[in-house]
Amino acid sequence: MQHPSNDGATVAAAAANKEDNNKEDNNKEDNNKAQWALVVHSHADQHVDRLTLPFRLFNVRGNTIKIHQEHKSDGSGGTCIGYGAAVYPSSIVMAHYLEHHGRLCNTTTLLEVGGGHGFSGIAAAVCGVRSVVTTDGDDISIQLTEKNIVENNVSTNCHATKLLWGNRDHEDIVMGIFGNRKPDIIIGSDVTACPYADALPKLMETLLYLSGPETTIILSFKSRNVDEESFWQKAATIFNISNRDRVIHPDFVNDSSLHLSILRRKKM
Ligand SMILES: C[S@@+](CC[C@H](N)C(=O)[O-])C[C@H]1O[C@@H](n2cnc3c(N)ncnc32)[C@H](O)[C@@H]1O
Repeated sequence: MQHPSNDGATVAAAAANKEDNNKEDNNKEDNNKAQWALVVHSHADQHVDRLTLPFRLFNVRGNTIKIHQEHKSDGSGGTCIGYGAAVYPSSIVMAHYLEHHGRLCNTTTLLEVGGGHGFSGIAAAVCGVRSVVTTDGDDISIQLTEKNIVENNVSTNCHATKLLWGNRDHEDIVMGIFGNRKPDIIIGSDVTACPYADALPKLMETLLYLSGPETTIILSFKSRNVDEESFWQKAATIFNISNRDRVIHPDFVNDSSLHLSILRRKKM
């Protein structure tokens, strides 16, 4: 292509110039179009490190839930026990399950164990559960959950309190909040993860102490390593376990390591 001479006087140069300008205009237009391109959002997008975002937005039953995150690259994700300051896929899977199983949310009481930031419990409160208690053994997580409860205006039916698995004093405080009755539902997302393998027998103790024959326990989890197996082997001796992987959040259906299971006490 012939480019304009220094004085820009030739017809060819002017034509070429015009052509270039047109191309430039088209490029600008293309760029503008690119800014408005429709990008399909997926919580499972591998190209975005969502754990490090300051907050996340979720839609649950037409309500926007905003969850503040406080992830730090300090080896334990910003909390003392570990990894409770960012929303993990299991939590999104749990919220989606509750949202699409309205009957569960017509129940009165729901306890969340290992809630971290509290998203699943807050989603349950948004879905209409009358009394939600979301717990964690980690003080930073509890503070973060309290902030998220206020942010999402669910303080009337959602409370955060510390529950270190196996700690009878903490468990009795939770029971007290529920009027000394076992909760209708207990949920836990990503609580069987390998960093807490040593604590899994304690988690089992807590589930046993706080569940009754009518309690439905829902666990969503990403299977990571063999340490979790002994937890599930023990669980199978006490609970009937049914797998609900087929109704998992659509963004995660292709992730074969994500699961959701329902546990109910076996009749002895
Ligand atoms: C991987 S995070 C999951 C957080 C959130 N449920 C989610 O799915 O995004 C596991 C949570 O379990 C909590 N946790 C681990 N061990 C615990 C224990 N012994 N007692 C109480 N909470 C514990 C951690 O503090 C953390 O918040």
